[in-house]
Amino acid sequence: MNPDDLKKLAAARALELVTPGMRLGLGTGSTAKHFVDLLGERVADGLEVICVSTSEVTEAQARALAIPMSTLDQTPELDLTIDGADEVDSQLRLIKGGGAALLREKIVAAASARMVVIADDSKLVATLGRFPLPIEVVPFGLEATRRAVVAAIASVGAAGEIVLRRKPDGSVLVTDGGHYILDAHLGVIAQPESLSAALALIPGVVEHGLFLGLATAAILAGGTGLTIVGALE
Ligand code: A5P
Repeated sequence: MNPDDLKKLAAARALELVTPGMRLGLGTGSTAKHFVDLLGERVADGLEVICVSTSEVTEAQARALAIPMSTLDQTPELDLTIDGADEVDSQLRLIKGGGAALLREKIVAAASARMVVIADDSKLVATLGRFPLPIEVVPFGLEATRRAVVAAIASVGAAGEIVLRRKPDGSVLVTDGGHYILDAHLGVIAQPESLSAALALIPGVVEHGLFLGLATAAILAGGTGLTIVGALE
């Protein structure tokens, strides 16, 4: 199976968790896209759910599939969110934000009773950090915030290049919330909780891609089948 088939396999398993009447959070990225496609088929067959998206891209996909959509203002408590991840460890700690949707993804995950990660098993890591950590920042004061981020990273014994994310055309990437993203190339994040706390203290940091204590399970698809981390139900 190629990586895309594995993503679809994980998404199909997650779809089995969906029951009529559920309030769902819809993730962002290539794996979550498979889930939304499959959910759209079930909705077309009569499944009744109400969904909140984590990005404009997912919102447009879901609406095109006629999936009933809501907002966190109208539906502030969700039963289940299904989303991808850039890295997941055995304690269900995640790095997310490779698709630049980390802020809404974290807000939606935090509003959900359960968050189930779907991914191919290449995303399972022993230690977080090989994937650059996305840090969403306010454009105002960018250089001052960047320096504070460097200091926060150093305070937990980590280090690495901090790169302002750009689009393929070279322009600065702007998130759905109107912010920039600094990608921290750390290699290893030995203390995710300490780094999360240090970054959260910086005024110009809106959010970061460490998702700690949010995921309740992960469905990881590999050549030999599915691996489940955590409890699906
Ligand atoms: C979006 O901002 C990300 O958090 C994605 O969920 C993550 O990058 C996983 O994306 P893929 O499923 O495309 O690997």
